[in-house]
Amino acid sequence: MADSSLSKILILDFGSQYTQVIARRVRECQVYSQILPYNASAAEIRAQAPDGIILSGGPSSVYSKDAPQVDPAVFDLGLPILGICYGMQLMGHHLGGKVEHSERREYGSGQLRILVPECKLFQGIGDSIEIWNSHGDKLTKLPRGFRSVAHTDNSEYAAIEHPKKQFYGLQFHPEVVHTPRGKELIENFVYTICGCRSDWTMGSFIDQSCSEIREQVGDAHVVLGLSGGVDSSVAAALLHKAIGDQLTCVFVNNGLLRANEAETVQRVFGDHFHIKLKYVDASTRFLNKLKGVTNPERKRKIIGNEFVRVFEDATKSLTRNGKSKFKFLAQGTLYPDVIESVAIGGNPAALIKSHHNVGGLPKNMKFKLVEPLRQLFKDEVRLVGAQLGLPTEIVQRQPFPGPGLAVRILGDITRERLRILREADSIVVGEMKSSDWYYKVWQSFAVLLPVRSVGVMGDERTYENTVALRIVESQDGMTADWVRLPYEILARISSRIINEVKGVNRVCYDISSKPPATIEWE
Ligand code: XMP
Repeated sequence: MADSSLSKILILDFGSQYTQVIARRVRECQVYSQILPYNASAAEIRAQAPDGIILSGGPSSVYSKDAPQVDPAVFDLGLPILGICYGMQLMGHHLGGKVEHSERREYGSGQLRILVPECKLFQGIGDSIEIWNSHGDKLTKLPRGFRSVAHTDNSEYAAIEHPKKQFYGLQFHPEVVHTPRGKELIENFVYTICGCRSDWTMGSFIDQSCSEIREQVGDAHVVLGLSGGVDSSVAAALLHKAIGDQLTCVFVNNGLLRANEAETVQRVFGDHFHIKLKYVDASTRFLNKLKGVTNPERKRKIIGNEFVRVFEDATKSLTRNGKSKFKFLAQGTLYPDVIESVAIGGNPAALIKSHHNVGGLPKNMKFKLVEPLRQLFKDEVRLVGAQLGLPTEIVQRQPFPGPGLAVRILGDITRERLRILREADSIVVGEMKSSDWYYKVWQSFAVLLPVRSVGVMGDERTYENTVALRIVESQDGMTADWVRLPYEILARISSRIINEVKGVNRVCYDISSKPPATIEWE
């Protein structure tokens, strides 16, 4: 629980895919926010002493049988309330207005015209703004004491207020990036209407997480599979701050790591942070299992299964009184790894995707989970990492797939082919960093193709390997475009690879976007 002197906004979650984005926007105002299930009682809410409440959107219709309802006493708490989309309809419905199924579903961009410029929500906004809608139902009759403060072509009541009670409703979504000035509306609600102060920082997040972790874990021991990626690294640093030596990290070298990866992780976490780190070199085990395997799905499966076994062996070998000493497994799960927040009509417990950050969860191991980053988005995790003192090379590193270089070697995986790819890849990384491009792109790496071609070196004919360069920009890895990198940099990378990496005589640049191509080649 956060320090009670902090400003606080509570968000009731009615199942919108954007609830976490609302929380994030409030955090961006440096105000503490907490998401509660839609059915939190008014008494619970009062006990938390928030400065205001936001009712999220949601997929339901207020009249449908299992529509998630709000405790009506929430409207008697004397607190400012902002209802967004379904949250607005629910407020309208409960306070005596009328919600109807709209003939035309409003979806996508629209223009909001502000009718009452003195409305506190629209302070500094001007006459009209671009907004993003996604709703079928709409309010058709205002509840008593409310007035319309803005409209769209399709909705007379696109924004409403009850000035006396400080209740506000928005038919559209101010939290999404497609409502470019939505953040200002949220700021107006948080600061002007609720009177919050900016007293919540990543430092406060760290302090709060540490006390929550201590409370959850007590004096038990926690194990964490450290991959060296941003998420598990930040989780490790945070847990270490919270519980020190009760944390043990297991770092598995699967033989598919990039050049210097194992050394970097040991240097940063072992030498610098003094985190208990068990380094397991299982490369031979993995590479033996992968011998002769060329099918990418088979490769992934083998690597996933082997990871679980190696991880299990490692944790079993760390025992106390002959028993595994770990009660908890920590994971760097982020919000995007967690499937939709509330399961409406069912148990409002969040589900976990079988996600692949550490190569898959050991399913039959009886651990309790510690996931201190599960409310955060990637860029927030990076801020936490930086605040905890993790070096830029860790905090800002590009995503790297769990199955490692296996998905970047097409065809057979052998030690020799791994050597070629590692050397080529470290030239790519080095040149990207020295030209200041590395941190501007989503990913930049080399791929080893199962193609040999003829070349000429000196007077000799060669018959050697081909390396493809994959350098892409992306927001989230779901879609991507190839980077228009200056020719000089491409030329330098190419000539260095061909000159310095024995076994390569050709370099190609991948100019496909995703979709239809993927980022990794596999
Ligand atoms: P694709 O190739 O599907 O990749 O366009 C999208 C993003 O996901 C990363 N990726 C993985 N990450 N385990 C991971 O942890 C995996 O098995 C995996 N496969 C792809 C990829 O690097 C890109 O950022």
